[in-house]
Amino acid sequence: MNNLENKKILLIICGGVAAYKSLELIRLLKKRGASIKTILTNSASKFITPLSVTSLSQEKTYLDLFDFKNEAEMDHISLSRWSDIVLIAPATANTISKLSYGMSDDLASTIVLASDKKIFLAPAMNVRMWEHKANQENLNKLKNYGYKIIGPEIGDMACGEYGEGKMTEPNIIIERLELYFNKIKKNKKLKAIVTAGPTHEYIDPVRYITNKSSGKQGYEIAKSLCSNGFETTLISGPTNLKLDSEINFIKVTNADEMFKETLNHLPADVAIFSAAVSDWKIKNIANKKIKKNPEVNLKLETNIDILKYISNHNSLRPKLVIGFAAETDDVEMNAKKKLDEKNCDWIIANDVSDRTIGFGSDLNEVTIFYKNDEIEKITKMSKTLLAEKIVEKVISKFN
Ligand code: CTP
Repeated sequence: MNNLENKKILLIICGGVAAYKSLELIRLLKKRGASIKTILTNSASKFITPLSVTSLSQEKTYLDLFDFKNEAEMDHISLSRWSDIVLIAPATANTISKLSYGMSDDLASTIVLASDKKIFLAPAMNVRMWEHKANQENLNKLKNYGYKIIGPEIGDMACGEYGEGKMTEPNIIIERLELYFNKIKKNKKLKAIVTAGPTHEYIDPVRYITNKSSGKQGYEIAKSLCSNGFETTLISGPTNLKLDSEINFIKVTNADEMFKETLNHLPADVAIFSAAVSDWKIKNIANKKIKKNPEVNLKLETNIDILKYISNHNSLRPKLVIGFAAETDDVEMNAKKKLDEKNCDWIIANDVSDRTIGFGSDLNEVTIFYKNDEIEKITKMSKTLLAEKIVEKVISKFN
């Protein structure tokens, strides 16, 4: 297996004894045909020299101190756009702390902040530093941003102590990257549709009825599917969110448009219906603004249930159909009812009466109800990380 051929790796080396191992990492990556551009942080250049890095990578080595001549070329942007992934090895406690706060006081941290690529970190530090609550909290933040952590390992340390904190060996880091690119290659054959956000059902030209929904969870799922190689279409009601250009992004306003666009983008291997579709629409939309009368009679009719329609038409049905259930009470009973009535493979339910999760929040906590009666609770985490966990489960269904 060689999935690293022609891959572009942006390697950030931080200042730690393990920096010498990164030279071996570069050698192994080069052997597999990857292109490597390297950034040495200021302290890394005290452990290894730019000359040895350049000799092995056969590329220019970028130094940590802002070189204003280079910055005229906007290195921090061009380097992060150039790469397929960013690998930080070794990642020191200091760099982990800086990244968790979104600091950008040197080239390495600025690149990470400016990057839209998957970021891998191979930490290396003393065992006490590794175990320190501050370091663990910082790492947790990075995991919630969707960063991938490789290692560290348990063993004898350069400082003479023993424990967890040794940088993972270069050949194992390479194996992890191989697996990542292999997964993407396999998923490239798969097509995914995600619905997200609310729908707006107009009453007159200036008013509408809607459901509460920021669209964040659905967008994060679409982003994760896309970065895992799926050919992804996101059909979204009105939101304030921004998106990756690789996602096929279809903007809609109301449920009828969402339904039409979903049909237009079938067939698909997986469909994830995270949209908060309005259950009703206005029967006769006024073409002029309705005047402020003390009483107004609105005639509503039910919208089509997009999820139910698609999962009950065999010729349209994707292999994996996943619905969401936003509930304020009896979560389990309602979710199971939806799983059954909508003929889904999974229902992902959350309790929206809990204000710390769900609508508008960056956090979510869900329970997945599977068709085979299994139930899986996923504890509170960022919507980004939750999306990754859901997508990992989706991938395992296809491999
Ligand atoms: N859904 C849909 N089309 C609709 C309504 C809902 O595709 N017209 C999908 C949602 O995207 C979600 C699932 O059905 O995946 C459940 O949506 P939810 O709003 O929780 O439930 P409803 O079916 O609308 O039922 P209720 O409002 O009574 O809870």
